[in-house]
Amino acid sequence: MGCLDEKVYTAELSSSYPCSKNPLRGIVFYNIEQLRGKEISVFDTTLRDGEQTPGVSLTPEEKLVIARQLDKLGVDIIEAGFPVSSRGEFESVRSIAGEGLEVTVCGLARIMPRDISACLDAGVGMVHVFVSTSDIQIAHTIKKGKEQIVEEAVAAVDMVKQHGVPCLFSAMDATRTSPDFLRQIFLAVQQAGADTVNVPDTVGVMAPSVFYGLVGEVCSYMKVPVDVHCHNDFGLAVANSLAAVEAGAREVQVTVNGLGERAGNANLAETVMSLHSIYGARTNIRTEFLVETARLVERLTEARIPITAPIVGENAFSHESGIHSHGVIERSDTFEPGIMTPEMVGHKRRIVLGKHTGRHAVKQVLDLAGYFPSEEQLGEILQRIKDLGDKGKQVTDADLQTIAEVVLGEVDRGHQALVLKEVSVMTGNIITPTATVRALVRGEERVVANIGVGPVDAAVKAVRGLLGQDSLMRVRDFRIEAITGGSDALAEVIIAMEDEAGRKVSARSAREDIVMASVEALVSAINRLILLEEREAR
Ligand code: KIV
Ligand code: ZN
Repeated sequence: MGCLDEKVYTAELSSSYPCSKNPLRGIVFYNIEQLRGKEISVFDTTLRDGEQTPGVSLTPEEKLVIARQLDKLGVDIIEAGFPVSSRGEFESVRSIAGEGLEVTVCGLARIMPRDISACLDAGVGMVHVFVSTSDIQIAHTIKKGKEQIVEEAVAAVDMVKQHGVPCLFSAMDATRTSPDFLRQIFLAVQQAGADTVNVPDTVGVMAPSVFYGLVGEVCSYMKVPVDVHCHNDFGLAVANSLAAVEAGAREVQVTVNGLGERAGNANLAETVMSLHSIYGARTNIRTEFLVETARLVERLTEARIPITAPIVGENAFSHESGIHSHGVIERSDTFEPGIMTPEMVGHKRRIVLGKHTGRHAVKQVLDLAGYFPSEEQLGEILQRIKDLGDKGKQVTDADLQTIAEVVLGEVDRGHQALVLKEVSVMTGNIITPTATVRALVRGEERVVANIGVGPVDAAVKAVRGLLGQDSLMRVRDFRIEAITGGSDALAEVIIAMEDEAGRKVSARSAREDIVMASVEALVSAINRLILLEEREAR
C-alpha cells in the first residue's frame, strides 16, 4: 500500500495533500463484505469521556443506573470513570465495579502509579492507561523526553499486569503523533503485556480514508487487538470508527448519544447499527434497548437528543410527506432503510400530520386513534390539517383529535364532562398563591380552592381537585411556551395526560393570560380523556 510507505496520516499532511498526489489513490479498500459476521467489541465511555461533556455531571447513583442499563444493553466494556480524580469518582467506580455486572468494568489512569493504584483499589476488571504521544501535547503538557515517556508507559502496563488485570493502552492524540513514535510506543507496551492498544483521534481531525490508512498500518504491526476512540469535532467520529473497523480495528469506543468532550465521541447507536445493518458485523449489543438507553441517558444528563438524531431521535422513523407516508403504509422499506426497522432499535414508526400529509396517512392515523370518518368527512379533516400546516403550525395529536371530533360532530360543549364557569387567582409577595375554580362536573356545580408555588400551580391543583381525591388521571407533560414577545406575549400551554388505563391525550390552549391558558388546556385534556373512555365503552 503506497500510503503506508509515505506516512501521511497526520492531520496536517492529510489536509494539505494535493489531490494529484493523493497517496490513497490506488488502494484497494477493505471489502466490507469481509466484515460480515465478524465480532466487534463495544467499549462504552459514556461514564468517563461522556461525563466530561461540558454541562454534564452525574451523581454516583445516576452513574450506577446508567451502568446497569449499559450492562442490559450488552456493551462489552464500561469505562466507569477516572478513580484518581476525586474521592466521589473513586467511590462511584468502586460501586459500579462491585455491582456484579456481566460487563467488564474499566477505570482510566495516567501512566502514574498512584492513578493505577486508584483503579486497582476501586476493584476494576480492566485498567485503561494513557499518555500523550503527539509532539504538540508532549511539548506543552507533559514536557518530558520521548524515551522517558516510553519507559513510563511500559512501567505502567507492567504494573497493571503484575496485578493480573487486563490492560488497555492509549496513545493520546495518536492521529497527530509521528507514525514512527506511535509504532515504537505501541510495540513497547505490547511487549510489556498490554492486551489492547487504542488509537485515539483525540481532537477529531481525521478524514475516514486517512484514518483507514493509519489504523491499517497499526494493525499490520500489532499482534494484540486494536481499538479506536474518535472525537466528533467535524462530525466524522462514527465514519472514522467504521473506517477503522474496515481497516482491521476490533474494538470501538463509543458513548450513548455521542456525549463527550467538546463535540463528543462516536455515537453508540449509530456506530453499532451501521456495523450490524450496513456491514453485517456482529456485536453483543441488544439493539432493541438502544432507544430506551438513549432516553435514560438523555433524562439523567439533561443533554437533549435532537429530533433529527439518527436511530434514537424522535423523527428517526417519522414520516410527514404524502408520498413518503403513503409508501411506508403500503410497505415500510419504500421510504425507510429496511435493513434497520424501528422494532430493531426499540423505536416506533410515526405518521406525522402537516401540510404535506396525504389522505391515506390521515385515514391510517385516524383509524389507529379510533375515529372512522366517511369519505366526505375525511376530506374535510384533511383540509383542516393542511390549513393548520399552511399557518406554520405543527399538527399535534391534540389538534387531530379536536378536528376529528368537530368534523364527526362529537363535540357538544353542553355535554362535556367538565364545564368551567369561573377562575380566580390571588398572588403576590405577601400571600401564598391561591386559586379558586367553579365548574359543572357532569352537571353538578363544584367549587374548589387550592394553593401552589405560583398562580399556575395553584390553578392546576384546583382544577384537578374538581375531579375528587380518587382521580387517577395524571399530568405527564406540562409545557408553557411564549409564542410572541413582550409582556403581553401570547402563551401557549401544552399538556399531556394519562389515565389509569394508560389512555393518553394532549391538549393545548393559547392566551395572553398564562393562568387561563393553563386551566383551559387542562380542562380540555380532562374532557378528552373522559370522552375517550366513553367512546371505548360504547
Ligand atoms: O480523547 C482521548 O484521547 C481520550 C483518551 C483518554 C483515550 O479520551
Ligand atoms: Zn476522548
